[in-house]
Amino acid sequence: MEKSSKISGFYRLSIEARRKILREWADLTDAELAAYDFPPGIDPGIFDRMIENVVGSYTYPLGIATNFRVNQKDYLVPMAIEEPSVVAAASNAAKIARAEGGFSAQTTPPIMIGQVQVLDVADPAAGRLRILAAKESLLEKANAQDPMLVKFGGGARDLEVRVIPSPRGTMLVAHLLVDARDAAGMNAVNTMCEALAPDIGRLAGGRSLLRIISNLAIYRLARATATFRPDLLATDTMKGTEVVEAILDAYTLAAVDPFRCATHNKGIMNGISAVVVATGNDFRAIESGAHTYAALQAKEGAVVKPLTTYEKDRAGNLVGSIEVPLAVGLIGGATAVHPTAKANVKLLGVKGAAELAQVLASVGLAQNFAALWALATEGIQRGHMELHARNVAATAGARPEEVDRIVARLVAERKIRIDRAKEILEELRASGSR
Ligand code: MEV
Repeated sequence: MEKSSKISGFYRLSIEARRKILREWADLTDAELAAYDFPPGIDPGIFDRMIENVVGSYTYPLGIATNFRVNQKDYLVPMAIEEPSVVAAASNAAKIARAEGGFSAQTTPPIMIGQVQVLDVADPAAGRLRILAAKESLLEKANAQDPMLVKFGGGARDLEVRVIPSPRGTMLVAHLLVDARDAAGMNAVNTMCEALAPDIGRLAGGRSLLRIISNLAIYRLARATATFRPDLLATDTMKGTEVVEAILDAYTLAAVDPFRCATHNKGIMNGISAVVVATGNDFRAIESGAHTYAALQAKEGAVVKPLTTYEKDRAGNLVGSIEVPLAVGLIGGATAVHPTAKANVKLLGVKGAAELAQVLASVGLAQNFAALWALATEGIQRGHMELHARNVAATAGARPEEVDRIVARLVAERKIRIDRAKEILEELRASGSR
């Protein structure tokens, strides 16, 4: 009989009962089912309440980036990521930056934007003014939705209204600006927007439709800078001053070419997202905001802009900087309930969301610098290949004491393949050498 994915009441079943269905569905073995098990320290009930239809947990490697110093304070930075080299690269870059004092970082106030879309407005310019004229009472109503946020010094601060021509007629879009304090702000902002939407629609003389936060948090920016000394950048074949020039050339391609810029900014997000995930924050929101911000900043015919900038100071040092919206929170969401996220926040020792954003911006800059340094010198593959080769050797069945020798051969031959790893393993074992 053909299998059907229409399983009524799946959400009502226990985790065990859901797993039983999976076992039958895919003929999973005991070992495969065990891969869904909750690790010690994780209460299945917490996960079962976090999302729907939970059957287990998916575990990411968690690594710690060392050497970070931001605003004169040292941090051990937890990074949850599946990609080899990222943690090592961030630690390396932080070590170089540290020689010149580390990262200097700031944040703007934690202002989030909530959007209320209004359609069918006959007189959009006048409708805009009618909404603005009612600003004070609208802000008051918004703040009545979240007395706790107001008590902690946050709340709705301002209102902007945009008139946007569209293929389906001119739309009015009201932006409610909300100080979210130490929260990412999604719930507070969405609740406020939903509460205000009928009034805004009526004032505009149209009908409101969307009421939702914008992930393009242009007012909630984090910035960081760091200085990298040329003598610390030299390689076997390049002088430090040459490396600085090569990094400037590498960076400049991202500034003029969207194909390179996408990869450049991806490398930045390798660092930022790994920490965002480790702290239980919404990495999709951060990624979306960062990439759209990069597009918004683009000037002079470019379609996107690197989130980092590199320059040379008078002493010949390389100076890197980053500016990126970072709407992360420490209260609410998974950060407040996921035990590993909670431990990671404690490990980081950040006192508030702004401090977390400052660390994130610094990690993003470090990650990007490390990528450019590798790309502008020996290339990215050597480090990657070695880590990849370790995985391949293990997958080929090498015991821990055999791994190093197999890795060395795979890298030397530039053939990082399981079939080759198996051949080398057999050779080694046949010759009795370990
Ligand atoms: C790989 O995940 C990230 C890099 O491609 C970033 C870059 O090219 O700048 C190395």
